[in-house]
Amino acid sequence: MTIIKPVPFKIPSAVITGLGSVKENLLDQVKGFDARRVLIVSDQALIKTGYVDELKGFLKDVETEVYANIEPEPSIENMEETLAWCSGKKFDVFIGLGGGSVIDSAKMLAALLAHDGKARDYVGGPKTFEKLGAPTIMIPTTSGTGAEVTVNVVFKDKAAKLKRVAVSPYLMPNVAIVDPLYTMTVPPAVTAATGMDALTHAIEAYTAMKATPLTDLFAEDAIVRIGRSIRTAVTAGGNVEARLDMSLGSLFGGIANAGASVGAVHALSYPLCGEFNLSHGAGNALMLPYVAELNMMGNIKKFARIAALLGEATEGYSDRDAAELAVKSIKRLSQDIGIPPRMSEFGITAEVLPRWARTVIETQTRLLSNNPRRLTEKDVLAIYEAAL
Ligand SMILES: [Fe+2]
Repeated sequence: MTIIKPVPFKIPSAVITGLGSVKENLLDQVKGFDARRVLIVSDQALIKTGYVDELKGFLKDVETEVYANIEPEPSIENMEETLAWCSGKKFDVFIGLGGGSVIDSAKMLAALLAHDGKARDYVGGPKTFEKLGAPTIMIPTTSGTGAEVTVNVVFKDKAAKLKRVAVSPYLMPNVAIVDPLYTMTVPPAVTAATGMDALTHAIEAYTAMKATPLTDLFAEDAIVRIGRSIRTAVTAGGNVEARLDMSLGSLFGGIANAGASVGAVHALSYPLCGEFNLSHGAGNALMLPYVAELNMMGNIKKFARIAALLGEATEGYSDRDAAELAVKSIKRLSQDIGIPPRMSEFGITAEVLPRWARTVIETQTRLLSNNPRRLTEKDVLAIYEAAL
């Protein structure tokens, strides 16, 4: 039985998709906020692609500055530097052009500038945001995080060797413009890892305790699009249709995640990313098949449906058998796009695993309580051991 729970469903006030959507809409959106001074937040890799200059060209009637010092997988210290650079500069609109790292930084920057204190006070600290910051417009250049439609941000705490999260309704971007043209040059390994992150959002949200019929709509469509197009996007990156599917799959996975949240894959990948510097996408991509294997029993009907959504022929299968097929399908997908299947390939060794299992159980209660299957410390350790 489906229970419709009273869960708020939030998305940006404008979500614009399609080829050429940035060129056609960016200036109008900026003018809609009556902006006089705009900051484009980005990174050095994006500067090299020429996309930042292209955006400045679209905004030539508006005073535009660029800040492009966002690190990959940014630390809280990097966020403090960004905040210090920006303080007192009085921008009316913030545009984030980049992957999840840039978008999270731009979201955080707009919110922090409207409040007292530093980034550290809000990321794992005691403070929470209490009002909206200046408007934000997000343009993702990878198909993965869905950060353009979520209320979360993630930053690395270098000293604690952890990823820390801040969650607030005031971190929701105002506008998301999802234009696959800005993802055409993403290299295969990044396309694979970020695409698996997007698939993880969709699968985890779909099977989550907080899933609703509304989030299921987005999750199902995301699984279909990513399942049918990720192999092509990785191996033939110039294929526009595959890139469009991946862009929409990432966006819809992000919307499902914003409404239903994620679970054990994200919880278990945090130590890999915090201590061994795997990217967020790479960590989730590695953990997804192993967690799915155990989670399957927690929601057999939904996993059975995932098999069909991934294009597997499930006719005549019992739900139990179809659910198992979903796990096999995820494993094969991961293999086909070259995701490293073992943690040992990153230098991770068995001694750290008991400590990681304990830490995950102690610190990731928000995500683990949303997971379709209750996981004990022993279960988490068994997943890590299987993935080693
Ligand atoms: Fe993610």
